[in-house]
Amino acid sequence: MRLTGKVAIITGGANGIGLAACERFAEEGAHVIMADYDETAGKEQEARFTEKGLNVTFVQVDVVDRTSVEQLVRKAIQHHEKIDILINNAGITRDATLVKMEPADFQRVLDVNLTGVFNCTQAVVPHMIANESGKIINTSSVSGIYGNFGQTNYAATKAAIVGMTKTWAKEFGRKGINVNAVAPGFTATAMVSKMPDKVLDQMKFSTSLQRLGKPRDIANAYLFLASDDADYVHGHVLHVDGGIMM
Ligand SMILES: NC(=O)c1ccc[n+]([C@@H]2O[C@H](COP(=O)([O-])OP(=O)(O)OC[C@H]3O[C@@H](n4cnc5c(N)ncnc54)[C@H](O)[C@@H]3O)[C@@H](O)[C@H]2O)c1
Repeated sequence: MRLTGKVAIITGGANGIGLAACERFAEEGAHVIMADYDETAGKEQEARFTEKGLNVTFVQVDVVDRTSVEQLVRKAIQHHEKIDILINNAGITRDATLVKMEPADFQRVLDVNLTGVFNCTQAVVPHMIANESGKIINTSSVSGIYGNFGQTNYAATKAAIVGMTKTWAKEFGRKGINVNAVAPGFTATAMVSKMPDKVLDQMKFSTSLQRLGKPRDIANAYLFLASDDADYVHGHVLHVDGGIMM
């Protein structure tokens, strides 16, 4: 078991990649706090994990709302007295070409994907500094690395995640906190399933492996970076994309 006794907050944990990460981390012995806006899925999944004997607790949070994030962190500290791992995984899309993009959709994606990561990290990091240890993993995307048609807002946030990750690596390295990012390729979750079959096929065949990622593929990368195996990996952006050629 690679995470025995570790306390992990996974935002956006009730669906998709975050859900796979909750399962994977709990299988490896972590106490997982599944932090998500989606109460229905969160409660359902918490019950499923409890049945399987996995230690996953759902806490409803809106990462955009600082009070909600502070409550999440307070609950985690009350129950576990520490936070070892923060996976900043919650994210949304509101796709349109630049010409058609509504300013509200531009702003909403910035609020969730960027300000949400800022809010969660700023609330958690003092507890990691006090412990002189911690692992922060942010979620970028191939869209942030290469750009992507119809994703002005999303690509901007995911590129910014790279900059924040490298900055926090510089700020927190000396405090014993590792900061890294994962840049997933196109992964089979609700986020991608909204897309037409033709686009999904294009995504598949743009990878050297000729397939979409599975949520567990990305969860395994989070797990590596959250584990002691990655103690000397710092300020890195791990591409987990099947060898994409965009
Ligand atoms: N699926 C992909 O192809 C892909 C590719 C690259 C990067 N990513 C990134 O991976 C992460 C997970 O994506 P996914 O595909 O699993 O998405 P998903 O839509 O399946 O899950 C996202 C989760 O985030 C939660 N969420 C949304 N807004 C929130 C908020 N304000 N507060 C708290 N929780 C909130 C949702 O309720 C949901 O449970 C995202 O950051 C996404 O940008 C996904």
